[in-house]
Amino acid sequence: MTIEIIPVPDLGGADKVEVIEICVQPGDVVEEEQSIVVLESDKASMEIPSPKSGKVIGLKVKEGDSLSEGDAILEMELADGAGTEEPQQEVTTNVSEAVIVADSSAESATKNVVSESSEQHIPVPDLGGSDTVEVIEICAGVGDDINEGDSLVVLESDKASMEIPSPVTGKIIEIKLKEGDKTSEGDALAVIMVVGASLPVTEAVTPVEEQPVKASTGLPAKAPMALPAASALVEASSADVYAGPSVRKLARQLGVDLSKLKASGPRNRYTKDDVRGYVKQLVADVNSGKVSNGAGIPPIPAIDFSKFGDVEIVKLSKIAKLTSANMSRNWLNVPHVTQFDDADITELEKFRKSMKGEAERRGVKLTPLPFLLKAAADAMRAEPSFNVSLHADGEHLVHKSYIHIGMAVDTPNGLMVPVIRDVDKKGLWELAAESTEMATKARSGKLMPRDMQGACFTISSLGAIGGNGFTPIVNAPEVAIMGVSKAQIKPVWNGSDFEPRQMLPLSVSYDHRAINGAHCGRFFTHMVAVLADIRRLLL
Ligand code: COA
Repeated sequence: MTIEIIPVPDLGGADKVEVIEICVQPGDVVEEEQSIVVLESDKASMEIPSPKSGKVIGLKVKEGDSLSEGDAILEMELADGAGTEEPQQEVTTNVSEAVIVADSSAESATKNVVSESSEQHIPVPDLGGSDTVEVIEICAGVGDDINEGDSLVVLESDKASMEIPSPVTGKIIEIKLKEGDKTSEGDALAVIMVVGASLPVTEAVTPVEEQPVKASTGLPAKAPMALPAASALVEASSADVYAGPSVRKLARQLGVDLSKLKASGPRNRYTKDDVRGYVKQLVADVNSGKVSNGAGIPPIPAIDFSKFGDVEIVKLSKIAKLTSANMSRNWLNVPHVTQFDDADITELEKFRKSMKGEAERRGVKLTPLPFLLKAAADAMRAEPSFNVSLHADGEHLVHKSYIHIGMAVDTPNGLMVPVIRDVDKKGLWELAAESTEMATKARSGKLMPRDMQGACFTISSLGAIGGNGFTPIVNAPEVAIMGVSKAQIKPVWNGSDFEPRQMLPLSVSYDHRAINGAHCGRFFTHMVAVLADIRRLLL
């Protein structure tokens, strides 16, 4: 039994590359050439194939590690016949399908510097041992701006497909190959106008067609520079999809699972456009409310209602569309619980009505809403779990020292939620004036974005309209919302008699990740006590 450490091979000049994927696990039986890890430099991704066949005993790396040539990747029990005596060169040769290694001739060629625009003739680089390969895709067109590292063409040998990246940044003047062409190392690939300063170039400004000699190994004798990796595409990779490293990188950056989309490239290969198109469609669907935020909930099927009778199709207002998206988002993201209670507002109503004359003199309307705002702020101070937001990192709670409360306003354009700031610091008259002003602004479409930001809690009052109770949807990132229904005179047992009392039905929906039933119970107890006797606000 021979145990061997499999090291990181020659990385074509790259140093400190990141492990972005581990393709094997301890216990796996690995064939020679099978990918064991995927490494990523700032220029390219490289699938590193196993130089030997055998069984993985242990991994020496994990995702996120930074590796250089010679670092241990894994420990392998070699299969019978897979000797240990092969030189390190073997590993380098194997990996050459993934990485093009410049030889010393390239180094010596890298001597001139251009600081102005110059035409560069880009040849087909070292193909890692492959001789004649087929052009299966042209990735860029004449006139395109191309960045160093962006794919120019995809070539395919009988063993692997390779994305050939541009070694320079510039504008493409000519593509010398077309799909279906057979090509070899050193053939003319493209002409690129390189703009800008200090790009190392070679005498390769001479068109490669004019170069009679090709080096037998490594890059063409007059190759421009150590070309970036011709990254290997591997069919049936770890993710069982056929896509090149740059496409996989884009998919990874955007969080796209490639197996979920259709490939449009030749031989069912995924292209960057497939990934971009998928994300674009997904965003459009989420914005239009057609699908949820990726929770996998099937959309409601489209129905032709005119089959059943006359219909009129009316365009949704912008606010209605935004509300729709927000409601779906909040409903799907927040684990809701709703609790109910009734507040005895008999005394509050007596007081409120007694203040009508004074309210008129002050030019404000004193409805139950300012009392509710004030009582809610007081209850939030008493029960601080209501004045938090879940941190976006999912690891923290944000506790707020201010108390801003949103009030839902029914407007001809849809539901709007202006925010009353520092409710705890304001008196009833000020709150009455401000809530009337905000409701008026909302109904006349005069609210500014800042008027609707920063709420810690929301009150949605349907009291003037009716109903016994409802379950409002939490307006995340707030963690709770209170629904107010219509106050009614009800018989309440006072210990010896039923007494007619004015009872206000309240409901509180909360995010069960931040608030639990006991918190809400305490919030409600405080709230109804304050509404039953508003002198408590002075305590
Ligand atoms: N029970 C009984 N009567 C109530 C009440 C309640 N809970 N709340 C208000 N009223 C009364 C008011 O006292 C007033 O009567 P009055 O003139 O005799 O005093 C009347 O109903 C009308 O009140 P309104 O003008 O609506 O003021 P308000 O301060 O109660 O409410 C808004 C202001 C902006 C909240 C309210 O107009 C509104 O738009 N509510 C709808 C919110 C909504 O759509 N929520 C649903 C979200 S899904």
